[in-house]
Amino acid sequence: MRYFLRALRLMRPYVWLLGVYVVCTIFAGVVNAAPVAVGKAFLEHLQRGGSGDVGLLGAMGTGDRFRWVDEWLVAWFGTDPYVFLYGICAIIVLCVALKGLCDFLISFLAAWISQRMQVDAVERLMNHVLALDIGFHDRRKMGDLVSRMVGDTTCLKVTAKLALEFIEKPPQIVFLVVMALLLNWKLFLIGAVGLPLVVGPLLTFTRRIYKHALRARVQAADMSQDMLQDLAGMRTVHAYEAVKAEGENFNRLAEKFFKSSMRMARNRALLKPISELLMMTGGIAVFAVGSTWVLKGEMSLAAFGAFLAALSMCYNPLRGMLSSFGELAEFVPSAERAFELLDTKPRIVDAPDAIDCPVLRKEIVFEKVALDYGRGPVFRDLDLRIAAGERIGIVGRTGIGKSTLLSLLLRFYDPTEGRILLDGVDLRTVKLATLRRQMALVTQEPFLFHTSIEENIRYGKPGATTDEIVAAAKAAAVHDEIVQQPDGYKTIVGERGVTLSGGQRQRISVARAILRNAPILLLDEATSALDSSVEQQVQDALERLSEGRTTLVVAHRLGTVRTADRIVVFSDEGGIEAVAPHGELLETSATYRRLWERQSGQGAESVAAEHETRRDGERLRRTAE
Ligand SMILES: Nc1ncnc2c1ncn2[C@@H]1O[C@H](COP(=O)(O)OP(=O)(O)OP(=O)(O)O)[C@@H](O)[C@H]1O
Ligand SMILES: [Mg+2]
Repeated sequence: MRYFLRALRLMRPYVWLLGVYVVCTIFAGVVNAAPVAVGKAFLEHLQRGGSGDVGLLGAMGTGDRFRWVDEWLVAWFGTDPYVFLYGICAIIVLCVALKGLCDFLISFLAAWISQRMQVDAVERLMNHVLALDIGFHDRRKMGDLVSRMVGDTTCLKVTAKLALEFIEKPPQIVFLVVMALLLNWKLFLIGAVGLPLVVGPLLTFTRRIYKHALRARVQAADMSQDMLQDLAGMRTVHAYEAVKAEGENFNRLAEKFFKSSMRMARNRALLKPISELLMMTGGIAVFAVGSTWVLKGEMSLAAFGAFLAALSMCYNPLRGMLSSFGELAEFVPSAERAFELLDTKPRIVDAPDAIDCPVLRKEIVFEKVALDYGRGPVFRDLDLRIAAGERIGIVGRTGIGKSTLLSLLLRFYDPTEGRILLDGVDLRTVKLATLRRQMALVTQEPFLFHTSIEENIRYGKPGATTDEIVAAAKAAAVHDEIVQQPDGYKTIVGERGVTLSGGQRQRISVARAILRNAPILLLDEATSALDSSVEQQVQDALERLSEGRTTLVVAHRLGTVRTADRIVVFSDEGGIEAVAPHGELLETSATYRRLWERQSGQGAESVAAEHETRRDGERLRRTAE
């Protein structure tokens, strides 16, 4: 119920349209009920053989409450029986036409408001999800998010439509009820006897529908998750001949979904006939009692006919409302799931008194920093001081926390303990946007959007000119390969850049970071996928770029970080073992020495030697030229 009311609150911006809607429904209620009163006059007119003797009506028992209608009609059309009858026909046609107009407006407004609500909800959800912290996204299943944002908001639209029906139906019912009460209140009470009986089954069935609907929504989310996962991992699925197994797995999920949906449908299907049957007990009683009264001459046939018409017209919207209850129970879980997501608070947000992050001039300090992703600490008591403008290498065994260190600097996560200071200011006290604006990141797994190469590079600096993009691509040593692509810079790279090689993707990410022209450069294995000669080209570009910038370079190949001002070495047990330049580390750090020895000869040394040879070659060529 709480979520239903919240869903209704989403309509608040369109409250004036809702006002128009309500007016339309009330007017529709009036023009819907009017033919009953007029019809009764019509019948009575026929009964008295076209005589204009209105006084006769009083003698017909209960008809006198509508005497004014008859008097009004006689005053309007006179006592000529044919003019009177045609006049009444004209009034009924007018009422039907007006009702039609109202129905159009009601349907259109309902569609507009509910569609608007869905779009508003999708927009709000997507923007909210975009703003949620990285930690949230680590834990979340993509399929669940997509199903909440797409599926559940579609259901929200239906919920809104149903809610509007609840506004639309009551005026219809109210006018007809008033009419029935005026015609014969005793008979009305007899007719209403079935209503309280409906409450019990209504509650039971809606509860059941809700339960199965919630289950079905969760299973729909599981299906989306499975779909997305298989689509993203298609190469692995094919390579491991898992097409059949994955298909069967998906079918299992789909069947579960089908079962829950059918349980829900069964309860919904049962709700309608059972509640109708109970409601009709009143109808049958009215029939029996009313006919007796007519036979005894206590009630006019016309009044009884009008009463029956009013009552049966009343049942229709009532039945509609009852089945809407069932539908509502089906869709409320969706509103619940959408709101649950909307209620998730991002953990990493600007503090209310957040200040602009100062542009780094002096140093970045990690002070007794600890981080725990929830499975035990990645590191504890980590102290590190990085001077502005320094080029820092970061090495250590896999899974030791190198990428985590960069994530902390970007404030993807907050330290569990300790703090990180940028020129003496705690990162938690600055505005996120002003902090991240200072950084350019090349992630360990470069990510490309499904758009052109040009747009992917431009991501680093929205609004960059083509010349700037080409310059960045040249610096990242990828320009030549881009122009060989079918559409050059306009080539669409496919989902996550799938149509490019790993090395090309990596250099496009580097070009993006180069274009960003940020004072702090974070490179996480940015050149790991490149062969040594291309790596050196990119390396040179990055070195040129890192002049006057603070650069953190994570690398497994020591050759990549050898020339750094200082290298941070993580010990195999965790935590920082030493921070010093390459030469000094060979003397002081056992871990670094071991890494170096393992790589030299085949790795770092050969890379370095190769670079030397290449540089010498170039120098010779230039001299020769
Ligand atoms: N989002 C996360 N949620 C939970 N644990 C994580 C998360 N990211 C990393 N970890 C864990 O934290 C530890 C450090 O991971 P991190 O990615 O920083 O290692 P790394 O040094 O960059 O490794 P590699 O050299 O393989 O890239 C690992 O043990 C990893 O399992
Ligand atoms: Mg890493």
